[in-house]
Amino acid sequence: MSLTGSSAAAPLEPRNGFLPKVTMPALGEMKRQGKSISALTAYDYATARLVDEAGIDLVLVGDSLAMVVLGHENTLSVTVDEMLHHARAVRRAVRRALVVADMPFGSYHGSIGEALANAIRFIKEAGAEAVKIEGPRVELVRALVEAEIPVVGHLGLTPQSVHRMGGYRVQARTADAAMQLQADAVALASAGAGAIVLEGVPREAAAAITAALSIPTIGIGAGPDCDGQILVFHDLVNLTFAPPARFVRRYGDASALFRSAVEHYREDVERRAFPSDAESYHLPESARRNPQAGKNHEDPRAAQEKMKRA
Ligand code: KIV
Repeated sequence: MSLTGSSAAAPLEPRNGFLPKVTMPALGEMKRQGKSISALTAYDYATARLVDEAGIDLVLVGDSLAMVVLGHENTLSVTVDEMLHHARAVRRAVRRALVVADMPFGSYHGSIGEALANAIRFIKEAGAEAVKIEGPRVELVRALVEAEIPVVGHLGLTPQSVHRMGGYRVQARTADAAMQLQADAVALASAGAGAIVLEGVPREAAAAITAALSIPTIGIGAGPDCDGQILVFHDLVNLTFAPPARFVRRYGDASALFRSAVEHYREDVERRAFPSDAESYHLPESARRNPQAGKNHEDPRAAQEKMKRA
């Protein structure tokens, strides 16, 4: 247990008091008003809190955490329990943004009943306000929405289909494929999806879908004409240890910042420059005057000097 201050257990009172809570209907209203929706992934309390306090509208607890947080090769192995663990941490941090949890591979690919039970866990146990599912699963979206669970769809390059796609490839590159993608998006919207993530599709296809839908599209590698944009937090701040994809813009270099902080700390520890006396706790004056206590609290630097001289 550390003595470091933490307000992780703070009650759920608004921090961004001046900004209203973002809800799924509010995202639709933003589209109608022509306001661009900002979205980012987050996977833990600290990053979710930064993202929320920066005024991002939607926080996605993405299954990308399998790769960027847990070090897996793809997103397929992360489990419902692991996703719930991270979603709870994010939920504790976020006051304003809409919290959406990704349903991981395998958690909605069997029966609708099983998928519903898993989705309910994200709402009940983690406090998610919507779930995201990949692919044109129209009947499932309808069932989730009927069960009062808001749904974000995800079409185009769907990472959970990596084996079927034969890698992470831009999708809908022919006119026919673009038309099919649009038909899928329209079907998801008709089934009640509140928004759709379009990933890794040509700008023109994303623009046409965005114009055809009354619900917002949120793009990642889908060009600037979507109703909003989402990026993976670790891509944004260079914490991925790999060259970025074309659609990633790095807005900071946390890798360099953290590396330098950690190296300085190690150097300071090695040359005994950390902690200083001011960073230490002391006995009260009265106890220091006690000869017994004094004995135990000889200035450690003086003791070291004495040892060197001996
Ligand atoms: O898991 C994730 O991070 C995502 C985004 C890329 C949309 O699904």
